[in-house]
Amino acid sequence: MTDHSGVSFPGMANADTDPAGRPSSARIYDALLGGNHNFAADREAAQHLLAAIPGAGEMARANRAFLNRAVQFLLDRGVHQFLDIGSGIPTVGNVHEIAQRRIPDARVVYVDIDPVAVAHSNDILKDNPWAVAVQADMRFPEAILDHPGVRRLLDLGEPVGLLLVAMLHFVPDDDAYPAVERLRAALPPGSYIVISHGVSDTPSDAALDKVTALYRRTDVSTAHGRDRESILRFFGDADLVPPGLVWVHEWPDPADGDPHGMAVVAAVGRITPPS
Ligand SMILES: C[S@@+](CC[C@H](N)C(=O)[O-])C[C@H]1O[C@@H](n2cnc3c(N)ncnc32)[C@H](O)[C@@H]1O
Repeated sequence: MTDHSGVSFPGMANADTDPAGRPSSARIYDALLGGNHNFAADREAAQHLLAAIPGAGEMARANRAFLNRAVQFLLDRGVHQFLDIGSGIPTVGNVHEIAQRRIPDARVVYVDIDPVAVAHSNDILKDNPWAVAVQADMRFPEAILDHPGVRRLLDLGEPVGLLLVAMLHFVPDDDAYPAVERLRAALPPGSYIVISHGVSDTPSDAALDKVTALYRRTDVSTAHGRDRESILRFFGDADLVPPGLVWVHEWPDPADGDPHGMAVVAAVGRITPPS
């Protein structure tokens, strides 16, 4: 199978079984970032997204930059293993590249629901003994925690960086809150939870309605921003590190001026021992 540029890449055969060329959230995001692991249907969806939210490409890039800063922050605090759920199609600044540049045997497990994202990740990781990608749905955290790849690479007795970056807005409340709670509970004190998330109080309701309608036609079926209070609930008892929940481009350093229609916020929390 080939993409639009005639380049073949792993996972495309699976992706083609997707009925009627349904777009996927992973490949729409790849298109927004200027990647080429996407089909015509994904690029068309990305164009509709940009029409509804003109800053969507900029937000995607700001989100990747946040991911980089958050991983560096965790490395500075001695976290050498990462569980990156909703990791997406590999692109510039993947977690294993950031982490293993500093700690060559840092462990990274990528998890995504999208077969193209997982196949392509495993292709670039084939010579990397300390990183793997697994195809799983975060709504079933037990399957993730019991996965042989997770058990082989991650020591859940040592701090882990749990990354849920730009993905929880694709998961409905009834699934998302219990799943994140289960994942948090599996991690020892000193672990961190890193979240970025679309917010519901910006931009306009009309734009959000268009985005929701657009994602209804994709693999994830839903996309909805949450308000800040609802996003903070994902951290449970974890201690938010300063500056708390802020615009994604402002973590950890406040930026001056207008957020320019930014619709993604981010925070990092440290899991503390039960009191
Ligand atoms: C916008 S991308 C974010 C990629 C990456 N985390 C980043 O921030 O650059 C969202 C990713 O979440 C994945 N995803 C959505 N729902 C999921 C679920 N229930 N379980 C696992 N992955 C999911 C999508 O396939 C997609 O790759």
